[in-house]
Amino acid sequence: METLREPQDDVGDAEAFFEHLIAPVSLSDFFHMYWDRRPCVFRGPDGVADAILSLGTFDKVVSSSNLKYPFFRLFKSGEALPTCDMTTECQLAVDREINIADLNVVYSAVAAGYTLELQQVERTVSSVRSACDAVQRYLCLPVHAYAYFTAGAEPGFAPHFDTHHVFVRQISGRKRWRVWEPSRRFPLAQDYAPDGDTVKAAISESAPILETTLQAGEGLFVPRGFVHEVLPDEEHSLHISLSVTPLCWIDLLRAQFRRAILDSQDDPAYRKRLMRPLREREYDAPSAEFSSLAEKLLGVYSVSEAKATLNRLQRDTLPSARRPRLAEIDTRRKRSASG
Ligand SMILES: [Fe+2]
Repeated sequence: METLREPQDDVGDAEAFFEHLIAPVSLSDFFHMYWDRRPCVFRGPDGVADAILSLGTFDKVVSSSNLKYPFFRLFKSGEALPTCDMTTECQLAVDREINIADLNVVYSAVAAGYTLELQQVERTVSSVRSACDAVQRYLCLPVHAYAYFTAGAEPGFAPHFDTHHVFVRQISGRKRWRVWEPSRRFPLAQDYAPDGDTVKAAISESAPILETTLQAGEGLFVPRGFVHEVLPDEEHSLHISLSVTPLCWIDLLRAQFRRAILDSQDDPAYRKRLMRPLREREYDAPSAEFSSLAEKLLGVYSVSEAKATLNRLQRDTLPSARRPRLAEIDTRRKRSASG
């Protein structure tokens, strides 16, 4: 296996990093042709994968970060290894125990063909956090990172679709991808049925629309809903997936109505019993009260209200990119004492 240089902590400017991530595709082509529309392969300039993660860093996280379930999982042909088989009790003190990964089991499982998945790697690797922050700042959408290592000949997961968009980067080794048309167009989180009957039907009735082998450094974009299968090649593979949670019109509508309910629930007009069922002719000449409340409800749809709700929604769903640093604690304390 090759040794890659250690990634840096900061990937720099958010837009420049995103442009680099999708190169050689331009920003305008990406948003017109691929974003939430079609999968796309990126065989741009080197450097992006190196900036995000290296095999050495991944190895270090596995061997020395006290991995806990479910931040790590092991899969083979769609079956997960049970938690109790891959964790061990660690005695922290006489009265304190914690379950962490049993590394002997993890390494044996990987040698036996299991795919090792690390979830939300941005929590433990600063360069991955920096990449997630950059994509998040550019797209104004929440981003999480998942890394997958395999040295086996069998796939980790059955063909499936995700309800988020995925920017894949091959970090080391190589891997084959097959992508089919969506089994469900624009799926929402509640549609998550990753390997259900619709997926089986989608892959049995049609040929893949994209088949490719990603080499180290290359990337792929898989929009939500597109069924995909990842097949190991003859050598090991480490790839990272930056998963982007979409913000949809239905989210805005939901937030808008939630807001309207909160704003109206103390208004006596809305707390009164609903009028008796209207007779058909009364719909044509509704009472003044009915008209006024119905008009107020229509206000929920106003453009300025929707813009304000969207701002709040984005602010509330994006985690803060700024992480506290213990090395700065003395300076901050002095600043708050003097200020
Ligand atoms: Fe997936």
